[in-house]
Amino acid sequence: MSLRFLLALSLSAVSVVCAAQVMPKRIILDTDPGTDDALALMLALHSPDVKIEAITVVPGNVTAEQGLENALRMVSLANRCDIPVAGGAKHPLNQKLITAEMWHGRNGLGNVELPSPKCKADAHFGPDLIIELVRKYPHEITLVPVGPLTNIALAVSKDPALATLVKDIVIMGGSISGGNSTGAAEANIFNDPEAAQIVFNAGWTVTMVGLDVGNKTLLTDEHVRDLASSPRPLAQFSAQIGKFMVSTGKKYGMEGAAMYDPLAMGVAIDPGVVTTRLMRVDVETQGQFTRGETVANREGYNEHYVLEGDHYTIDRLEKLPANARVCVDVKPQRFLDMFVSRIKGKP
Ligand code: BDR
Ligand code: CA
Repeated sequence: MSLRFLLALSLSAVSVVCAAQVMPKRIILDTDPGTDDALALMLALHSPDVKIEAITVVPGNVTAEQGLENALRMVSLANRCDIPVAGGAKHPLNQKLITAEMWHGRNGLGNVELPSPKCKADAHFGPDLIIELVRKYPHEITLVPVGPLTNIALAVSKDPALATLVKDIVIMGGSISGGNSTGAAEANIFNDPEAAQIVFNAGWTVTMVGLDVGNKTLLTDEHVRDLASSPRPLAQFSAQIGKFMVSTGKKYGMEGAAMYDPLAMGVAIDPGVVTTRLMRVDVETQGQFTRGETVANREGYNEHYVLEGDHYTIDRLEKLPANARVCVDVKPQRFLDMFVSRIKGKP
């Protein structure tokens, strides 16, 4: 046997061992379930490259109680009582909760009635569970918050070291091209602007999967039919949710259902589905028309002014370090193929 052949053999053996050792990504899903939240969870449950360490529930689309019930029903349907599901905050930090049954159905799950849960809620307070798990697996956990950022703000305020101890944080929220709750604000940020401002300024680099890319990633009737063709109970459930979302979208003039939360999960799994740009993002908490807007500084500086007699003048540019990777473009087809094929499974 030649030396070259032996070398090639041993190199391929090493790569086989390495491939076998690729660990699934540990994620915590913080969610306000929610129809598209449900689909984000379905994607994670069908992703062998993901290990869901916990689901923490935040009020948003539905109340905290309904959200916990929905999460428990879904993990029960999936036979995954091994995944801790913990309730968290009961309301936003500084305002009353705004629920969204108009978009998500009276139960938040597109009026799809799942059987009563057999899984039980974890006794931890959601933000404390996040802290415990991030400390248990330093630099390994990717946080995927897809609701208002209340739980994450509480966690990182209590334990600021989380900002350096997580592997990554991929949020669904915000927009640099107008809102869906108001002209300026996206719903998750609008539902708790103070929490969002804490999270963007916690010291980590937030991957922001906002409306800019979610609105280009549409589930259609064809995808729903594809999901419904699978005999898997979770694919059937996903198809029912998808059907509700597509028909609700159509009612309000949309061509399909925006895959906001599933796309955030998709980005956590495969960052290549989006293009990002580093920016400085702050959340407007005051504005009469702009409360909840994610204000993105594309230039990386603000002008600095000094008083000169009776007026101010610019004396220099003040550099602003980026705190967010803002998703500015998406490959919808690549994401939707992954989404449908994973949930549907092999024929
Ligand atoms: C976000 O708001 C919620 O209604 C959805 O679940 C998603 O997280 C979109 O703006
Ligand atoms: Ca959500």
